[in-house]
Amino acid sequence: MGTSPYKILRKILFMMDAERAHEFSLKSLKTIHQLKLGSILFGHKYKSEIQVMDIDFPNPVGLAAGLDKNGDYFDALSDCGFGFVEIGTVTPRPQSGNPQPRLFRLPEAEAIINRMGFNNKGVDYLIEQVKKSSYKGVLGINIGKNFDTPVEKAVDDYLICLEKVYLYADYVTVNISSPNTPGLRDLQFGEALDELLIALKHKQKELAQQSGKYVPLAVKIAPDMDDASIQQLAETFIKHEIDAVIATNTTSSRDGVEGLKHADEQGGLSGRPVKDKSDHVLHVLVTHLQGRIPVIAAGGISSAQDAVNKLRLGASLVQVYTGFIYQGSALVRDCVQACIRNSRSSG
Ligand SMILES: Cc1cc2nc3c(=O)[nH]c(=O)nc-3n(C[C@H](O)[C@H](O)[C@H](O)COP(=O)(O)O)c2cc1C
Repeated sequence: MGTSPYKILRKILFMMDAERAHEFSLKSLKTIHQLKLGSILFGHKYKSEIQVMDIDFPNPVGLAAGLDKNGDYFDALSDCGFGFVEIGTVTPRPQSGNPQPRLFRLPEAEAIINRMGFNNKGVDYLIEQVKKSSYKGVLGINIGKNFDTPVEKAVDDYLICLEKVYLYADYVTVNISSPNTPGLRDLQFGEALDELLIALKHKQKELAQQSGKYVPLAVKIAPDMDDASIQQLAETFIKHEIDAVIATNTTSSRDGVEGLKHADEQGGLSGRPVKDKSDHVLHVLVTHLQGRIPVIAAGGISSAQDAVNKLRLGASLVQVYTGFIYQGSALVRDCVQACIRNSRSSG
């Protein structure tokens, strides 16, 4: 196999600081999109309608949250052949996130460590971008809380965001699993979780009645949980009639990257080393959900086979992030093609 154009570009990008490379890539993609060259250069023709949460997806491979936090680039990103795109995490008020550097590449492991800390321009800005966009595909909007909102008041932040994004999203993701906002992951357990889900489902019902549009709620969970906690979560999601679960976010573990440069940086680890953990959470979750709630699987997809494995473990859809940074749109195309082939042979 020859060297692909993305591999050459990646060499140049990887010489830059990770966050600058990230911004440069997204801006370049946007320019290519404006020149109407995006889908010609990066797109593919594979299509296979699939219905999840009563939404029609053109293919099962999505872009995970965090790459386009403010909704500035999703029109352009969709040129890469994703079946859906998730923007955010967005918070009620703008916030700058953690000090830089806060994004680290670990190329030997095809991994990233980030402690961005929900840097974003706030929910009002994101909505303006969605309103301006000409994107016609499936859009998820991922919501969170501001870092300085006390965890006891987190529900208020999620409610503000849900109310504001409701009419503009095909589904809304409740992010309670980022490791970079202190206390956020506590919302995954016990009374705090019950309270949050009761409030969000109540608001969803109210907004659906007002608008005549039902927008599904997905909850995104961490990979750092024992089996009993996963079972507990599954039961709670069934009890509250949550519409989907996204498994998983980044991990706080450093398994698989020990001794590598940047491995000791604080933050969430993503990419290849999180795959086994995410797959395990997916497996346990699917077992306890018993087909009652669909799962969107993320975590360590770096080949078409990884994506197919997640479907075989019971996921309805998959999302990629780190693999996309390392391999570009070729990974999306390969995953879509393999997932479609898998669903034909199994269905
Ligand atoms: C730099 C970076 C920023 C991220 N930001 C967010 C975020 O804002 N919200 C969120 O729900 N997940 C965020 N994620 C997690 C991804 O959406 C995904 O769940 C995780 O990285 C596992 O998938 P992957 O191994 O394919 O990257 C981020 C991941 C990375 C690498």
